[in-house]
Amino acid sequence: MPIIELKDVTKTFGRVNALRGISVKIEAGEVHCLLGDNGAGKSTLIKILSGVHRPSQGTYEFEGKPVELRSPREALDLGIATVFQDLAMLPLMSITRNFFLGREPQKKLGPVAVFDSRTASSITNDELKKIGITLRDPDQAVGTLSGGERQAVAIARAVYFGARVLILDEPTSALGVKEAAVVLKYIVQAKTKGIGVIFITHNVHHAWAVGDTFTVLNRGTSYGTFKKADVTRERLLQMMAGGEELEELAVELELIAKRDSPEAGKLEQQVAKVLEDEAGESH
Ligand SMILES: Nc1ncnc2c1ncn2[C@@H]1O[C@H](COP(=O)(O)OP(=O)(O)OP(=O)(O)O)[C@@H](O)[C@H]1O
Ligand SMILES: [Mg+2]
Repeated sequence: MPIIELKDVTKTFGRVNALRGISVKIEAGEVHCLLGDNGAGKSTLIKILSGVHRPSQGTYEFEGKPVELRSPREALDLGIATVFQDLAMLPLMSITRNFFLGREPQKKLGPVAVFDSRTASSITNDELKKIGITLRDPDQAVGTLSGGERQAVAIARAVYFGARVLILDEPTSALGVKEAAVVLKYIVQAKTKGIGVIFITHNVHHAWAVGDTFTVLNRGTSYGTFKKADVTRERLLQMMAGGEELEELAVELELIAKRDSPEAGKLEQQVAKVLEDEAGESH
């Protein structure tokens, strides 16, 4: 049984159809990549999954039972953890404070409960060590970490607090090649722990490197969900770019080229040829 199943979900904002008829299943121990161009509906979909938005139509099932999540807190209580692109971290606070954000261990100091910083620091140190990061000092400010390391802290935090589903919105988009590779490694580590990982990205190469399943969104609708064995990286790239749209553009450019003088039309003709070839390959 999938951990999460969305059936025929639609989301409208006023007159904008952000999502139409989306059905997806999130399985345990699998990396499910969500691909699509700008405005395709990726963030809207993960906001539904993480309890920020409610579907306008359709059903959300968690372990086979329909649920209506009213807040991200409710999603988190079910074990659905989301690492948003901006990470929601406080750069001037320590790594430890960021690791526990809102869930700090406490100890009694006489009649009052206070933040147990020693326990917190040692847990943070241990958990990060498990995924291969050795901290010089867990009390250093999180702002001193690189982008990749911050993603690592966010992922380690979700794993530590028992996430069943981990949603990562563009975790590699702001990173260099080496750092992205490290984050991809954490994604695979989370998956081997049996977590269902939803990995949103624009980068087909990153998706292909770690993905088991791929869903491609285009203007609010789904091109479908594909297992790795049933699709190629090139095909995913073409779906993201919107094969038919490229074809239409090629025809349009050709018309322009014909209308104008042969000299002026040369470049357009060349462009049209390239686009035609690309679109042709997608059929
Ligand atoms: N709160 C909102 N109110 C109105 N329209 C919205 C809202 N949120 C999203 N949309 C619209 O829904 C569509 C899908 O947006 P969404 O942010 O989900 O795309 P995306 O795939 O995440 O794009 P990007 O790659 O740029 O992040 C867009 O047309 C967007 O303008
Ligand atoms: Mg987005």
